[in-house]
Amino acid sequence: MQRAKLSIIGAGAVGATCAHWAAAKELADVVLIDIPDKLGMTQGRALDLAEAAPVEGFDVKITGTDDYKDTAGSDVVVITAGIPRKPGMSRDDLVQTNVRIVRQVTEQVAASSPDAILIVVSNPLDAMVYTAHRVSCFPHWRVVGQAGCLDVARYCTFIAMEIGCSVEDVRALLMGGHGDDMVPLVRYTTVSGIPVTQLIPADKLEEIVQRARMGGGEIVKLMGSSAYYAPAAGVIQMVESIVRDKKRILPCAGYCDKEYRVGGYFVGVPCVLGTKGVERIIEIELDAEERQMFESSVSHVKELCKLVDGML
Ligand code: APR
Repeated sequence: MQRAKLSIIGAGAVGATCAHWAAAKELADVVLIDIPDKLGMTQGRALDLAEAAPVEGFDVKITGTDDYKDTAGSDVVVITAGIPRKPGMSRDDLVQTNVRIVRQVTEQVAASSPDAILIVVSNPLDAMVYTAHRVSCFPHWRVVGQAGCLDVARYCTFIAMEIGCSVEDVRALLMGGHGDDMVPLVRYTTVSGIPVTQLIPADKLEEIVQRARMGGGEIVKLMGSSAYYAPAAGVIQMVESIVRDKKRILPCAGYCDKEYRVGGYFVGVPCVLGTKGVERIIEIELDAEERQMFESSVSHVKELCKLVDGML
């Protein structure tokens, strides 16, 4: 069986960490690509990672390049190109710069890998997935955004910390845009099958929800730049489900038209991920409060997409 090919656009903090985990899990041959000014850094990171292979025992090819020819025929392309947040910035503050970058890289990716599945990571996430979809003209099931896997991982981390249990036992769902108004769904959170509401008091749970919502900002404040281990872990969870056709149900920014009555935008919803991309969007029941939070988050995404429409 031929190994999958994964190209990662942007060999910065998130891109390089994605390459690391993809290689360690032998998910695919990996191509890291960045701008020509950073060719040395990109090649250096690829070579450094390749030199870890004899110790870690992974057999994949890792290439560092500034030439899209090397990415040709990729099965999956992860777009991390763009500028990250600095302290005091919201994800929305990145929109002007990152629309230009995501547009430019998507044009090149679509030309060199016309059958690829695109996973967008650049922020503001939901608007950048929308950009990549508009520019690539790919069918919507082959364009998806990574945000929910990260946000839910943060939420699960805080729940496990509070209970003092294994993170492996926490299962949760989160919906909406990748902003501070994202919607962690307490009603759909369980720990080894036990509803979380039986294990953590309501006021503490509300604090955890709030911390998860602001989780990206918490890291930016601590480090002076944005997170990369957990975002990359979220990406690789998606890549694995796609290249191994696992059909995992993961919270991702998937295209919703009639689904949840969104009307043609990418927002965080439970998606079945397999070799075809987003193979299905699962519609769950939301109560009045959950629906109101979801709709408010979606309307924020729509505003940003209108801004993008003016820039494309
Ligand atoms: N083509 C290819 N790479 C590009 C381009 C481009 N046109 N423009 C910028 N890049 C590269 C930069 O050179 C840099 O190496 O994207 C990389 C981004 O890396 P970092 O600055 O380290 O940012 P990172 O923390 O990886 O975040 C990337 O993901 O989580 C989001 O908000 C975050 O939008 C940001 C993105």
